[in-house]
Amino acid sequence: MCPEMKTITSIQALRATLDTARRDGKSIGLVPTMGALHEGHASLVRRSVSENDITVVSIFLNPTQFNDKRDLERYPRTLEADCALLESCGAQIAFAPSVEEVYPEPDTRTFSYPPTDAVMEGAMRPGHFNGVCQIVSKLFSYVEPDRAYFGEKDFQQIAVIRRMVDDLGFKLQMVPCPVVREADGLAMSSRNTLLSADERAIAPAIYAALKASQDFARSHSVDLTRQYVVSRINAIPGLRVEYYSIVDADTLLDVHAWTDAPAVVGCITVYCGQKPIRLIDHIHY
Ligand code: PAJ
Repeated sequence: MCPEMKTITSIQALRATLDTARRDGKSIGLVPTMGALHEGHASLVRRSVSENDITVVSIFLNPTQFNDKRDLERYPRTLEADCALLESCGAQIAFAPSVEEVYPEPDTRTFSYPPTDAVMEGAMRPGHFNGVCQIVSKLFSYVEPDRAYFGEKDFQQIAVIRRMVDDLGFKLQMVPCPVVREADGLAMSSRNTLLSADERAIAPAIYAALKASQDFARSHSVDLTRQYVVSRINAIPGLRVEYYSIVDADTLLDVHAWTDAPAVVGCITVYCGQKPIRLIDHIHY
C-alpha cells in the first residue's frame, strides 16, 4: 500500500506542487539527503511522514560541501534504489535536481557561525559547513517546510544549521532524530559501503570505545576520558583518531570539567583503513 511518489527535478515544478498543497492547508516536512540512502535516512523519512501531510526528500550530492574532491568522486550514487526506499517509506516527493539547477551561478555566499562551524569538522574540513549552509538554505527557500528533519549522527551539522535558521529567520521547526546503528553498534553511513570486509570488521570498535568511556567517565576527569578513548581506538591496527573533542553540547566548545556545561558530548572522527574512509560518531556523557 504505497501511493505514487512523485520524482521532481526542477525547482519551478517543486514550487508549483507545494504551493497547491499549502493552499489546501497541508503541512510539509523536508528531509535533506545526498542519496545512497540507508535505514538512518529512512528513519528520518518515516518520522516526517508520520508528522506531516507531505514529505519532500531531497537527493542532491552537494558539491560545495566537499573540500576533498576524491571524497565527492567516490561517494556512492544509487538513485534508483533510493527512490524505491523512499516510496516504501511513504514519502510523497523525491526532489532530485541537477547541479546546474541548484547552482546556475557559483554560490558566493559565505556563512559564519562560530564557534559551532569553526571547531572539529569545521576545522578539519575547511569550507564544509559553508557548503552545507549554502545548500540547506536553498532547500529551505524552495520547500518552505513546516518541519525539517536532521540526524544526530551529524551532531555538529545540526548545531550549525540551528544557528543559520535563527540568523536568517526561517519559519520552521528543526527536528533532530536519533542515530540509527548497525547491530554491532557502527553508526549507519553512506560511506560504510566503501569499507573493505576487514575495515568493516574493525569499525565497530569506535562506538564500543565511546560506550565504554561513559562508565570510565564516572570516575575520571574529562582529559583522562579523552585519552582513554583515543588510546583505545588507536591501539587497533587500521584505525586512527583524527580528533576526539569533549564539548558543551550547545556551543561545541571544549569542556575541562564535567560540570562545565549542562550537557556534554564527545565527538570523534576516525580514519579507517588504507583509502582511508573517515567515520564520525559521538556519545553523550
Ligand atoms: P547525508 O549524509 O545524506 O545525511 C542526510 C541526513 O541523514 C542527515 O541529517 C544525517 O544526519 C542523517 N543520517 C545519516 N546517517 C544517519 C544515521 N545513521 N542515523 C540517523 N540519521 C542519519 O547530511 C547530509 O547528507 C548533507 O550534509 C545535507 C544535510 C543533505 C546537505 O547536503
